[in-house]
Amino acid sequence: MIDSAKSEFQLITYWDSEELKRQADFLTGIFLEVLEASPDADLVSAKRNGESGLAEAFARSHPEHLQDISNPEKLTQVLSIFFQLLNIAEEACAAKLRRDMEEQSDTREDPEELPMWTFRWIVHKLAGHCDPEAIRKLLSGFEIQPVLTAHPTESKRVSVLEAHRRIYNDLKIFNEQSRTVSEKNEAAERIRSQIEILLQTGHIFLDKPRVSDEVENGLFYFKESFYPLIPVVLSRLYRALKRRFPGERFDIPSVLHFSSWRGGDRDGNPFVTAEVTRQTLLRHATYIIDLYIGELTGLIRVLSYSRHEVEISRELAESLEKDARELPDFDAIASRNPYEPYRIKLAAIRARLKARRSALAFPNFEEILPDYAYSDSSDLLNEISIIRRSLEQHGSQSTADAWIRPMEFRVKTFGFHLARLDIRENSEVLENTIEELSQAAGQGSYLEKNEEQRQTWLEERLAAGGSLISENETYSDKTAEVLNTFRVVTWAQINLDNDSIGSYIISMTRSPSDLLMAYLLFKEVGGFVDGACRFSIVPLLETIGDLRRAPEILESLLTKEVVRKTYERLGVQQQVMVGYSDSNKDGGTITSQWETFKAQAEMTQVADRHGVRLKFFHGMGGSLSRGGKPTHRHIFGLPAKTLRGRIKLTEQGESISTKYANPDTALFNLKILTGTVMAASLENEFDPSPAPAEFIAEMERLSDSAYGAYRQLVETPGFVDYFRQASPIDAIAKLNIGSRPAKRKQTQGIEDLRAIPWVFSWTQNRHVLPAWFGAGTALENAANDLHHLALLQMMFSQWHFFNNMILSLKVSLLEVDMDIAEQYAQLCQDADARDRIFGAVKQEYDRTVNAVLKITETDALGQGIRRSAQAAEMRRHSLGQMNRIQIELLRKMQSGQATDEDMMQLLLTINCIAAGMRTTG
Ligand code: PGA
Repeated sequence: MIDSAKSEFQLITYWDSEELKRQADFLTGIFLEVLEASPDADLVSAKRNGESGLAEAFARSHPEHLQDISNPEKLTQVLSIFFQLLNIAEEACAAKLRRDMEEQSDTREDPEELPMWTFRWIVHKLAGHCDPEAIRKLLSGFEIQPVLTAHPTESKRVSVLEAHRRIYNDLKIFNEQSRTVSEKNEAAERIRSQIEILLQTGHIFLDKPRVSDEVENGLFYFKESFYPLIPVVLSRLYRALKRRFPGERFDIPSVLHFSSWRGGDRDGNPFVTAEVTRQTLLRHATYIIDLYIGELTGLIRVLSYSRHEVEISRELAESLEKDARELPDFDAIASRNPYEPYRIKLAAIRARLKARRSALAFPNFEEILPDYAYSDSSDLLNEISIIRRSLEQHGSQSTADAWIRPMEFRVKTFGFHLARLDIRENSEVLENTIEELSQAAGQGSYLEKNEEQRQTWLEERLAAGGSLISENETYSDKTAEVLNTFRVVTWAQINLDNDSIGSYIISMTRSPSDLLMAYLLFKEVGGFVDGACRFSIVPLLETIGDLRRAPEILESLLTKEVVRKTYERLGVQQQVMVGYSDSNKDGGTITSQWETFKAQAEMTQVADRHGVRLKFFHGMGGSLSRGGKPTHRHIFGLPAKTLRGRIKLTEQGESISTKYANPDTALFNLKILTGTVMAASLENEFDPSPAPAEFIAEMERLSDSAYGAYRQLVETPGFVDYFRQASPIDAIAKLNIGSRPAKRKQTQGIEDLRAIPWVFSWTQNRHVLPAWFGAGTALENAANDLHHLALLQMMFSQWHFFNNMILSLKVSLLEVDMDIAEQYAQLCQDADARDRIFGAVKQEYDRTVNAVLKITETDALGQGIRRSAQAAEMRRHSLGQMNRIQIELLRKMQSGQATDEDMMQLLLTINCIAAGMRTTG
């Protein structure tokens, strides 16, 4: 445990503050020049006082450069850009750090000295336990699936994100030693112009995005990052294996797959209709073919081998003969490069793909697809592999590795589906659908049945012949819509690509019948083969109560015949989704983390008894308050034996752009994801170290006590009003950052409010309460007793889970500003409720800080987390300014005096604070 903790700490604690200051001063220095030259120059007090840049000025809390900006609108805009530039500087610094670490990984001789997530370390460990054959087997069991959700947590417009990317790229050029002075000056000029444009660009969404916009935005990451980088990641794994086992052959399987929720997540989003899902699936299907066609065109240019110089393999010669027989335009293709067999073969593959591409434009695609067009991506993969083997046969190994293997990796990863589209539906919607079908079929009310009766009825229906859906019946629009979605996904799985659909997820799963309903509906629309469902139907457990019942729900499910047949068909595997974010909102951070941890461990025991492998799908937000953590920390913190090489996890909103918008950052993130899953699985496999009973008992106690404190706060009379008045929640709902509404149902309480706006609001008003409230009560007593404190310190130093929990608390507490929070509290009109609630918050905050410092044996929150500490310090003053402007606007809004301009201004402050906090929440 300790060793891996050590290697991952390097990532958290090592930070070059001077380098960040340099980068930030460079960018903010240019910004200041742009401001001085702008028509608003008179608004800016451009007295530089010898300071080298705004960053330094702000860091020292001397904002004199901007003190003359009395116009809050201008100040919001200026600070927004200032924060954005700091974020870019931080990303550039982090990238440099990673390159340095990478360099070390490549040059160090002893793999033991490398961080655990590097492929060389992993292969070294594997070699200690397995022979190459066993390694091949182990590798083929890895399945790592990042899932891009459409969650509304990215408040930056695409144009603004693109501007950031350009600035980042030019900053990189500016920092490259090999660049000439002229090249550097040109890069700085481009940055200047980009900042100029940013200063005159609208920063918030004026219109609500459509689902199709969200889909298109997701495709950007496939084109710019995932498609180009997959071969880089897998080739590095391949090279690490070759380096350790020089004479062995390794066929690297597609360990990474991508999923998406964009166009498939119907939970509380009325705009995701069956038709939208169909369009999305077709868009994915055509997009990937266009990428392949583009790549083939490039390969045709490169592979100019002449028949007179090389002898191609027999299988390639035969496949060319097959092309000659099957392709209508083969003569034209062959006559273009008559002596260049690889070019002919690649052009033939392209022709087959083009035929598929053209057919996809028609609604009856499956009927008009010509025989020679590929109907399955495995046919395409086979043909590409024939080319690679032929090249290897005549000694062109480098060409095979550099040009053809990357395409093989891509086809294995993206197939003909690009991303596996998950469908998510709320259990209540399915209940209403079944109710209507049951009533219409004369089978009485479904809703009136208890759980046992529901299960019996559903199982009978699943076993029975005949259909519940009648062609002659007219169903309500809602029911018709749900049924059409089942039909669309079944059509896609059969006709587009076997992997076009990922899972069918049921949010707010409370009991086994919630899943059986989906099985029944799939059976009704032809989604079954030999008594098994074609789809992986997945429970999403996301309240504390449901997480506690999780083992029981799973036990019951795994005994159902339809579930058994289905998991057997899907490789004896059952997927379960665990919701970190909603459980955090329901039970507070400590209890949510503990219950999700325990539920996974206990469900794994249940599944083991049934001989089923579980694949956990981690539904985490980007921020700590929504269960998010840096990926490597999250993965190492999972309970022993629950990972086993298989994981699915959500990537959301701003974390998607932060992690994957720039290719070098994206490469690192994909590698660390792959590497940590492999390393942590190996640790589980070869050195499982379940947490000692003493740690478990202590966590139980802490969780109970934290839960009590958290629930007491949210149930305090007046709490809902406090939240509504002392935060910008009502304005956040108007932000237009996602296609879906902020609430599942239009009620005033917080129960139906989604976790995202909940956390977003607490982040803006600087309470950041969901990330820590309750922890102080739980930890304080223990930390005050010396014996107990020693136990907590031991847990911190020896147990990933607890270490993560405490570090996350530390980072979150740094984001809190109690003085500013108190000013927001003043907006709460009921003085009594305000004093009680803010008083409780303040006391709990002090308790939490004290306990965390004692457990981590540090004197200040920032100690040991220099990067977060520097980030907080650089922004502290300016964020405070922004918060104060927001408070005034909220006050105006509450008194009914806010104009349309004020409302717009309020939205801008939200955007600006999100940039400053580096998260919406
Ligand atoms: P959800 O997501 O509201 O879509 O379930 C919650 C979250 O990610 O915070």
